[in-house]
Amino acid sequence: MGTRTVAVVLAGGVGARLGAGRPKQLLEIGGRPILARAVAAFDAHPRIDEVLVVMASGHLRAAAAIVAPFGKVAGVVEGGDTRTASTVAALEALAGRPDDVRVLFHDAARPFVGAAVIDRVLDALDGDAAVAVGVPSPDTIVVVEDGLVASMPSRETMSRFQTPQGFVLGTIRKAYEIALADPELAATDDCGIVHRYLPDVPIRVVAGDDRNLKVTRPLDLSLAEHIAAEETP
Ligand code: CTP
Ligand code: MG
Repeated sequence: MGTRTVAVVLAGGVGARLGAGRPKQLLEIGGRPILARAVAAFDAHPRIDEVLVVMASGHLRAAAAIVAPFGKVAGVVEGGDTRTASTVAALEALAGRPDDVRVLFHDAARPFVGAAVIDRVLDALDGDAAVAVGVPSPDTIVVVEDGLVASMPSRETMSRFQTPQGFVLGTIRKAYEIALADPELAATDDCGIVHRYLPDVPIRVVAGDDRNLKVTRPLDLSLAEHIAAEETP
């Protein structure tokens, strides 16, 4: 048997920007909860052994009901106030696991992650301990400070990160161990933690997919419905 691979589906947020009155991952797209779609992608993937769901407090029962049909779901744990705290909750749940386990962190708010993207992350983990998924930016991205353009990196070097982000468990554990000792810890995502606290660890970037959008603002719901309607039944 090869190394075990665990997918962590992060659903600890409350969806403030969407403003639906409940966590966005509980909303249905094409008749199916966003959380169910995200979990299903990993549950159905032959190279994923186990799925762990991190849910916002107060919604654990709702999450448990949604994930009940999926055989690889090993548990639903309570998240924290920030995405970082929710990742830490997952790492605590994986505390007894060996360092060589592979772990993929995925935003529950991305219901259309495909098998090909998951495969690319897993393939890259054969050679690198940290892997991100990126797509080119159609827009020019600039650094703005005090309302003025401070710098303009060339568009060709810019990438927008999606998830899943994949790690060798020992590496992401070590990065968080250092990060949590930093009183000024400010993190964006899990690769951000590795980049900042284990700067010598290269982070491989593999190609994402335009359909792997994160439902964030109201307009994203329309786009998500459109993508769901295009799916082959
Ligand atoms: N997330 C999490 N725990 C948190 C915050 C976020 O697990 N405390 C998860 C979200 O559930 C989501 C992913 O991280 O799947 C990306 O976060 P985001 O899109 O920001 O979701 P929310 O935080 O729910 O949305 P908002 O920032 O608008 O409140
Ligand atoms: Mg958020």
